[in-house]
Amino acid sequence: MLNRNILSRTRVEVIFVQLQQKKMRDEEKSKEQLLKELIDLRRTVVTNDTEHRLREEYSKVKENEQKYYNLFQSSNDAIFIQDLNGRILDVNQKLLSLFGYDRSEMIAASMSDLVSATEESKYRSALESLVSDGATIFEIDLRRKNGEPFPAEVSASMFAVNGEKVVQGIVRNISERKRAEEEFRKYRKHLEAFVAQRTDQLESANKELESFAYSVSHDLRAPLRAMEGFANALLEDYAEKLDETGKDYARRVVSAAQHMDILIQDLLAYSRLSRSALKPNEVSLDSVLGEVMHQLSSDIQKIDAQIRVERPLPEVMGDHATLVQVLSNLLSNAIKFVEPGVKPKVNIRAEVVNNRVRLWVEDAGIGIAPEYHDRIFRIFERLQGMETYPGTGVGLAIVKKGLERMGGKAGVESVPGEGSKFWVELRMRGL
Ligand SMILES: Nc1ncnc2c1ncn2[C@@H]1O[C@H](COP(=O)(O)OP(=O)(O)O)[C@@H](O)[C@H]1O
Ligand SMILES: [Mg+2]
Repeated sequence: MLNRNILSRTRVEVIFVQLQQKKMRDEEKSKEQLLKELIDLRRTVVTNDTEHRLREEYSKVKENEQKYYNLFQSSNDAIFIQDLNGRILDVNQKLLSLFGYDRSEMIAASMSDLVSATEESKYRSALESLVSDGATIFEIDLRRKNGEPFPAEVSASMFAVNGEKVVQGIVRNISERKRAEEEFRKYRKHLEAFVAQRTDQLESANKELESFAYSVSHDLRAPLRAMEGFANALLEDYAEKLDETGKDYARRVVSAAQHMDILIQDLLAYSRLSRSALKPNEVSLDSVLGEVMHQLSSDIQKIDAQIRVERPLPEVMGDHATLVQVLSNLLSNAIKFVEPGVKPKVNIRAEVVNNRVRLWVEDAGIGIAPEYHDRIFRIFERLQGMETYPGTGVGLAIVKKGLERMGGKAGVESVPGEGSKFWVELRMRGL
C-alpha cells in the first residue's frame, strides 16, 4: 500500500513533472510563437506602412502625370511627340484638329501622310539638324487628312524618355502670316513700281521746271532790263522836261525793276539749290569766308561794318558753292539788320560739338523775337518793311535748304535788341 502509495505518488510526481515540463514547453513555445507573431505583425505593419507610402507617392505621381497630360492636351499649341524614326508616339487635341485626324488615325499615320510629298527631304534634314543641335525651328508644307496642304512652322526639340531619345514638336499654322507676307510682297512691288513711275514723272517735271526757270531768268529779265534802261533814259535824257513828280515816278520804276531782278535771281538760286544733288566734299570754311568777304566788300566798306573772324576756321564736309551762298546770306543779313545809323559789328567763329562743326555768325543788331525763330527760315517770310530793310525774304530759305542738301542744320539764337546768333552745323572733315 505504502509502496503503491509511493509509487502512485511518484507517478503523480512524474505526471506533475511532465505536466510541468509540458507547461514550460508550452510557455516556451508560446513565447516563440509570440515572438514570431510579433515579427510577422511588425513585418505586416512595416509592409503596410511602406505600401501606404508607395501608394501615396504613386497617386501623387499619377496626379502630376495627369496634370501635365492635361496641360499637354489642352495646350493652344499643336504638340506631337515622335521617335527618331518618325513614328508618332503621342499628340494633343489641337494637333488632331489641325490635321483633321482622330487619335488612332494620327498615331498610325506615317510622315508621308502628314508632310507634303515635295517636302519630305526638308523634313529629314530638319530631323538631322535636330539630332545634331538638340533643337530646331523650320518652315514646312504639311498636309491635312483631306489632302489640303498648309504652311507650318515647326519648333522641335529632343529629350530622353527611359534613356530613349524622342522628339517633341510644336506645329503652328502660318497660313495667315504667309498670306500677309505675300500681300506685303505684292504691295511692295506695287509701291516700287508706283515710286519708279512717280520718280520718272518728277524727273521730267523737274526738267520742265529747270527749263522754265532758265527761260524765266532770260525772258523775264530782258523786259525788266528794258524797263530799267528806259526809265533811266527818261531820268537822264528828259530830266529837264520832267517835273519832280515825274522824276520820282521814273526813279520808282528803276528801283522796282531792280528789286524784281534781285527777286528773280534769288528765286533762281533757291530753285537750283532745291534740285541739284550735293556730294559732300572737304571744304575749308576759311576759303569760303574769304570768297564771301570779297563778294560783299563794297557793302562792308560802304557802311563801315566791323567783321571779326576767329581764324583758323575748320574744314567741313559740304559743297563749296552752296556754302558761299549760305554764308553770303548770313553775313549780308548780319550787316543789314541794325538800327539805322548804327555800325554793324559781326563776329564769326566755329566750335566742334560731337564731331560736328558749328559755325556762328553773331551780330549786335536788332535781334528777332523768339516766336519768329522758325518762321524766318521759310521762303518770303520777312519781319520788316521793304523801306527800312530791303530784301526778298529768300536768303534764309536758301540757308536752310542748302544745309539740308549737305546733311547739316541751321538755326538761330536771338533776343530782340541784343543781336542775333545764327549758326550752321556740318560734319567735320574726315568724319
Ligand atoms: N541778322 C538778323 N537780325 C535780325 N533779323 C534778321 C536777321 N537775319 C534775318 N532776319 C529776319 O529774317 C527775315 C528773313 O531773312 P532773309 O530770308 O535773309 O530775307 P531778307 O534778308 O531778304 O529780308 C528778314 O527779313 C529779317 O526780318
Ligand atoms: Mg537776307
